[in-house]
Amino acid sequence: MAYLLYGAANQLARHPREAVVRKARADRFRHLLSARDLDIEDVDAFCQVADEFEAGFVPTHLSGRTVALLFFQSSTRTRLGFETAAVALGAHAIGMEDMSASRTNARVGESLEDCAAVVSRLCDAIVVRHHEPGVAARMAAKSVAPVINAGDGWNEHPTQALIDIYAMRRGLGTLRGKSIAFGGDPRGRVVRSLIQLLRFEAPREIVFCPPPRYGIPPDILTALIENQISFRIITDIRQALTDCDAITMAPYDMSEIGEPAASGFVSPHQTPESYVITLDKIEQTGSRALLYHPLPRFEEIDPSCDLSPNAMYFEQVRLSKFMRMAVLDRLLSAS
Ligand code: CP
Repeated sequence: MAYLLYGAANQLARHPREAVVRKARADRFRHLLSARDLDIEDVDAFCQVADEFEAGFVPTHLSGRTVALLFFQSSTRTRLGFETAAVALGAHAIGMEDMSASRTNARVGESLEDCAAVVSRLCDAIVVRHHEPGVAARMAAKSVAPVINAGDGWNEHPTQALIDIYAMRRGLGTLRGKSIAFGGDPRGRVVRSLIQLLRFEAPREIVFCPPPRYGIPPDILTALIENQISFRIITDIRQALTDCDAITMAPYDMSEIGEPAASGFVSPHQTPESYVITLDKIEQTGSRALLYHPLPRFEEIDPSCDLSPNAMYFEQVRLSKFMRMAVLDRLLSAS
């Protein structure tokens, strides 16, 4: 039997020993900073508990808990996703609409470490997004509450990767033996986190369709080689539509991801035709590849695809609520 491991699942335990096992697993990590910290049992458990939430299970043990949302970079899905997940668990979400109004701003310059030390004494968990790699870990070092990395610059976005695995398992049944493509900028934090989780899924191959000016980051190549996952590089997304079971798309250039909100920097978003998925291309290739995207999108998936049976990216957003509930449930239950 797969593990049902933590808070919500503990409420379902039929035997006290099951609850003990679950509690032990829940204590395995205090923060969620990197997909590297997860093992296959964690991923299975998150997916299983997300299923329970989707089926309508309503926990009572998180009622009145408080989750602080500290978003130093813009966000729609992650910010509102964690807020709606907290509310669905009976918890409260607090936060500032504009973190430049906090004392961490350039004028006062309170350190992120002090911000974590202070905010964690007012809440039960912190969800943080920032343009600098490593900020979530820095804040976790000073926080007395669990910290969830909601995207730290180029580094990682572990909850998005959990959502992507959950949605791909849902669409494909299993990723074992499947060909999974990554279209667009391969340097993004979601790719880095997702590659870490794909090592548990035994795909047949990974197919990259990256812009020629950005290579696959060395740490991603190392992870693939170490885990004996085959990979190849293509230059036209039609090839992925023809060959692959699923394609997870990203914008053609994600340079913005490493920029402070105040910089006003805008990535170049012109996407060459050979990297754009359109309904015409799906029909011409007869592709049955399922299309995923953490969003937001630019031109890489044309809106003409939205109603095709291939399009999974909005379903991916719907499922994200249950995965974020599972993440909050686990970290709040262990704290
Ligand atoms: N996928 C994702 O992280 O979206 P947001 O930037 O809107 O949170």
